[in-house]
Amino acid sequence: MSGHTDMVLVNEEGIRIDGRRTDEKRPIRIEAGVLKNADGSCYLEIGKNKVLCAVYGPRECRPRHLQDPTKAIIQCKYNMEAYSVTDRKRPGTDRRSVEISKLISEALSSVVQLELYPRASIDVYIEILQANAGTRCAGLTAASVALADAGIPMRDIVPAIACGKADDKVLLDLNKEEDNYGQADVPLAIVPSTDEIVLLQMDGNMTREELEYGLDMAFKAAHEVSDIQKDALRRRYTEISKKEGESD
Ligand code: CDP
Repeated sequence: MSGHTDMVLVNEEGIRIDGRRTDEKRPIRIEAGVLKNADGSCYLEIGKNKVLCAVYGPRECRPRHLQDPTKAIIQCKYNMEAYSVTDRKRPGTDRRSVEISKLISEALSSVVQLELYPRASIDVYIEILQANAGTRCAGLTAASVALADAGIPMRDIVPAIACGKADDKVLLDLNKEEDNYGQADVPLAIVPSTDEIVLLQMDGNMTREELEYGLDMAFKAAHEVSDIQKDALRRRYTEISKKEGESD
């Protein structure tokens, strides 16, 4: 987020370098149940981001000292593959991945009915296969679908999307160039049925009016992402019931 580049990020007609309008999100594709051996899984693409998520549990919490006698815990591991970015990323956990894992786990804990499974752990693995800005939102969106695919009781399925600012314009769903050279990035995740916010971060510089305008765009887009999540799960259930029908 340097805020300085010779590159025009938004032209005079309000069109961005990837052809989008300021209030347009990148194309999204979501598939639920893509892995056979996990309890739940999801593959998600948004623009050039590619994310795979696998869920296990609820199962006995290991290490045992992390067990909570009153409820389950969500252990989330966000991992960026070495080949997911243009400069090879050093494999393994770093401060950024620890922070992102924690905030995704906290966002999911707001919707999962953890009190149903005392002492258990729900393990969420998020693999970023290809990154182009917005991976925490993509990872959280995929994780919510994978949890639903695992049949874990939740009060809602969380969608996430960012708004931000580049070239003095408020934008929806920043891509890598806009994130790198733009002025602000604001990832948002909501509970669609109540419009509660379960993740909101901001770095950069925006006026209060710009932020309010950006959040309006992001809330509207998050509801659209929610529809795409539900559609992916509907397709998954149809596939399962078709298979069950065939085996009868
Ligand atoms: O991905 P997200 O926007 O949630 O997080 P970020 O920390 O704002 O990173 C923005 C983007 O920078 C990522 O999506 C990657 O495309 C890129 N990045 C990178 O190239 N190398 C890293 N070690 C970390 C991030």
